[in-house]
Amino acid sequence: MDMALSMDNISISNEDENSMMKAMHLPCGLVLNMVLKAAIELDLFELIAKSSAQKLSSYEIASQIPTKNPNAPLVLERVLRFLASQSFLTCNIIKDDDGNNHTSYKLTPLSQRFIPDKDGSSITPFLLLNADPVSVNSCFHLKDAILLGEVPFNMAHGMPAFEHAGKDSRLNMLFNKAMQNLTCIEMKRILECYNGFQGAKEVIDVGGGLGMSLASIISKHPNIKGINFDLPYVIKDAPTYEVASEQGWRGFVEDKMREVRLRWFGHVMRMGTDAPVRRCKRLALDGFRRGRGRPKKYWREMIRRDMEQLQLTGDMTLDRKIWRMRIKIEG
Ligand SMILES: C[S@@+](CC[C@H](N)C(=O)[O-])C[C@H]1O[C@@H](n2cnc3c(N)ncnc32)[C@H](O)[C@@H]1O
Repeated sequence: MDMALSMDNISISNEDENSMMKAMHLPCGLVLNMVLKAAIELDLFELIAKSSAQKLSSYEIASQIPTKNPNAPLVLERVLRFLASQSFLTCNIIKDDDGNNHTSYKLTPLSQRFIPDKDGSSITPFLLLNADPVSVNSCFHLKDAILLGEVPFNMAHGMPAFEHAGKDSRLNMLFNKAMQNLTCIEMKRILECYNGFQGAKEVIDVGGGLGMSLASIISKHPNIKGINFDLPYVIKDAPTYEVASEQGWRGFVEDKMREVRLRWFGHVMRMGTDAPVRRCKRLALDGFRRGRGRPKKYWREMIRRDMEQLQLTGDMTLDRKIWRMRIKIEG
């Protein structure tokens, strides 16, 4: 056995020592997330990154944040020391002429992940989402997923996550930004080695959020038609990416998406009432009310808004040719 520590009557293996250290750290797991959240809210990493020497002391940071608390540098010192112990910062101690220690802190590759990169993306929004009370409160119900077969988020908030996001614009934005930032970082890496989009004509991103995956794909493959398919309250915040194709369609992802939605709607409206697929019509009109808690009104509202924009009426769906002509996006 590999002995790490050996005294007269005690011997502790490396394995024992490591598992004990790990077990002692685990109950503090939440602390790291919360300290990071505070550091981000105080812009600590950005302040260090922007400083001329790329390093700051707790006193220098305290002088740049909006506080009148005289003890701020002392409390900050503890936060910075903790972040250094977790490899988010390195520290450098210098003795001045009076023999006093001055500690300054520098960023590490780990903390640099929390500062926007050249595309403006970072891990920060994802951390803020996970450290948000809405997310944390769901975690209190994890055991209920097993004992009661319930979804923890629904138990904590009385509704499914995406319905909640539709009612809480702050959470909606927090979630979408977190996804957008992660996707931007990941898609860059994926597109460097994945060739599966070569030769594709159209890509529909189901649940595409703010459209970052499509924007990345289309910027590498400009001939692809990209369609972002998501909930209306997500789409309304999605930036419009202009798609310029050399051969085919030119236009905006949003418009093409509306055409696809209306084409499908026209199709189900023309089905015979006894056709099994006619169920889709009810789904379309009832807002995909398939499962418990599924938001009822989104699809109905989306189609109603689309039809209003193009000044369409329900009876137009009956003539396939006219319908297609009215909904088509030219390009
Ligand atoms: C994990 S996120 C995907 C994020 C996205 N791929 C990105 O890169 O940002 C799941 C997405 O599914 C969407 N979503 C949830 N329910 C939906 C539904 N019924 N129809 C369409 N989109 C839905 C959410 O709004 C959310 O944007």
